[in-house]
Amino acid sequence: MLLIHNIGELVVVPPGPIAGGAMRTVGTIQGAAVLIDGDKIAWFGPESELDLPPDCDVLDAQGGCVTPGLIDCHTHTVFAGTREDEFVRRIQGASYAQIAEAGGGIKVTVEAVRAATCEELIDLAAPRLSRMLENGVTTVEVKSGYGLTVDDEIKMLQVARRLDEVHPVEVVSTYLAAHTTPREFEGRTDEYLDAVLDEAVLARIRDEHLAEFCDVFCEHAVFDVEQARRVLTAAAKHGLKPRIHADQITQMGATVLAGEVGAVSADHLEVVDDAGIAAMKEAGTVAVLLPGCSFFLGVGQAPARQLLDADLPVALATDYNPGSSMVSSLPLVMSIACTQMGMTPTEAIIAATANAAVAVNRQDRVGAIAVGMQADLVVLDVPNHLRWCYEPGRNCVRAVIKAGLEVAISERSAGQLVRAHAATEE
Ligand code: NIG
Ligand code: FE
Repeated sequence: MLLIHNIGELVVVPPGPIAGGAMRTVGTIQGAAVLIDGDKIAWFGPESELDLPPDCDVLDAQGGCVTPGLIDCHTHTVFAGTREDEFVRRIQGASYAQIAEAGGGIKVTVEAVRAATCEELIDLAAPRLSRMLENGVTTVEVKSGYGLTVDDEIKMLQVARRLDEVHPVEVVSTYLAAHTTPREFEGRTDEYLDAVLDEAVLARIRDEHLAEFCDVFCEHAVFDVEQARRVLTAAAKHGLKPRIHADQITQMGATVLAGEVGAVSADHLEVVDDAGIAAMKEAGTVAVLLPGCSFFLGVGQAPARQLLDADLPVALATDYNPGSSMVSSLPLVMSIACTQMGMTPTEAIIAATANAAVAVNRQDRVGAIAVGMQADLVVLDVPNHLRWCYEPGRNCVRAVIKAGLEVAISERSAGQLVRAHAATEE
């Protein structure tokens, strides 16, 4: 058993989904302790009421705050190459859409990912996951979408599955072949979709457990609503749950589609409208907001208060990717949500734990502090949860527990560790 004691403030986030007024407050216990049995929370409460079992390993929180492990429910963490030239062009006035139309954007990363081997992609992604872990993130959703051939998309999903097997961070995979139409199918988008939605391909993804979700970038000049509907319904027939990049730049009814297909989440929502909000509410879709993306692109934020006031379960994620959000710190995203979107620190923490767990369909196991939940916990070196969001850019994490184990892994050794693990199994 593992005891975490001397906790200044235990933030007792209940399991999601949590919406509306329930996001504004959270239970806390001062002077708390948590007992972990195997990979699960066995007891928590005031330390004065603790009945200490014999032979317990002990972790001293030194008066720090303890929260559930963070869940980054929307990322593109597997990628090769970087696009700092586009970053500079945007600063000088070009928009994300203009750069994409001029041949930049996603397609640049596609070339780099196609040229990379599985091992190279693992070596690039493992240190990114380690940095996320060091910032308190214990579960990360990772999308394909930079391969855009059946083989390269499968390669990306295999990389994500390998990372899940060998890295302490839990990786949830999403098939995003419908990220854009690749060069070789220019002007033949429906034929491209025929290829990546082939029955045998989707059956293979299901049978080899390569992805749990299917996503599509529904946007002007990318995929329209009818194409997005086709993607999500074809994938759902093979058990891939729908989620969608919706209402980021252009309002075209993508969030209404999210509701119609019963999407688990609709993500971005910078230009969401009332019809989209009503559709999400009807379907129980989680509103995933990505304020690091708007911060990085220098554009307007999603109307978080409007979504919260509509009683939708709101989640936060980084959208970590080399084009529109080279932001890998979910705590920084929580701070941006506070200062730029009017979310309170309490709402931000619930959005990055309990509600993010719903967005990756793991609300029965992670994202909350309750007896029987998996022991995914963050020990902070600040005394309360308000202080975490109050110090943007500072890593306030003292220790991270994943499934009952203290996990700390340095950025430099991560890639080696993953490959050493792979080598011993071969
Ligand atoms: O979520 N919107 C589409 N996909 C990413 C951007 C990917 C890229 O530019 O490489 C996003 O913002
Ligand atoms: Fe994205």
